[in-house]
Amino acid sequence: MGEGSIRSEAIPRHIAVIMDGNGRWAEERGLARTDGHHAGVDTVRKIVRAARDLGVSWLTLFAFSSENWNRPKLEVDELMKLPEEFFESELPDAIENGIRIRMIGNRDRLPSHVLSTLDEAIEATRGNSSMRLTFALSYGGRGEIVAAVHRLLQDYDLGKLDPDSLDEDRFAEYLDHPELPDVDLLIRTGGERRVSNFLLWQLAYAEILVTDIMWPDFDREDLEAAILDYQSRERRYGKISAQVRGEGGSAS
Ligand code: IPE
Ligand code: IPE
Ligand code: MG
Repeated sequence: MGEGSIRSEAIPRHIAVIMDGNGRWAEERGLARTDGHHAGVDTVRKIVRAARDLGVSWLTLFAFSSENWNRPKLEVDELMKLPEEFFESELPDAIENGIRIRMIGNRDRLPSHVLSTLDEAIEATRGNSSMRLTFALSYGGRGEIVAAVHRLLQDYDLGKLDPDSLDEDRFAEYLDHPELPDVDLLIRTGGERRVSNFLLWQLAYAEILVTDIMWPDFDREDLEAAILDYQSRERRYGKISAQVRGEGGSAS
């Protein structure tokens, strides 16, 4: 990890987090996996506040993947209680602190009590702009891309899309949430080194940080350490280091 203190002018604009390790955290303590999920909600509270204090503009949290529907029903049912648990205490804080709540993912599969909780939070914070807090629920990156292709083909059928005009920016307009910016920093807790079908399109050039810390143990200091590590990296986007440092990098 990097050393020194965080440079406030270089805070990653969009941090995305794969909040993993709740189950193992609980099992290590002889608790039920679902106890780990409830402990994980406390971490969400802490990290949202910390990110807001640090001046992060976009924070996107992977709370439930499209693949997580394959878990035992009892666990899924318990996970579906968490949005209510979170917003009951945090919605007033979000309203007060200018946080705008958003959601990405497949609404069709989510129970109505989850949707109404989220919709209430989205509506109540619509005018806010200090930090955009997006929950990915029933979300899968491939699903998002295929849905975009469906919309694109409809426009093509209607004569609204000239195939020659299709480039990356034009394609991105068809995503569920074209306003979601590219991810600058992806944090995965729980030690697994994979993307697990999270924001496939938006992660194209993200800096990735995997930590062995389980999500319920992740805290403000760990977030700060992740940002410090991010700030120590050179984002080259395919170029060579001298070009990025503004030294021209002529082929010599
Ligand atoms: C992350 O923790 C929460 C969700 C995926 C919903 P896990 O439940 O995956 O925890 P582990 O990976 O089994 O420890
Ligand atoms: C990824 O964690 C999804 C979320 C954190 C919501 P998983 O625990 O589901 O990922 P895999 O199955 O280990 O890849
Ligand atoms: Mg997991």
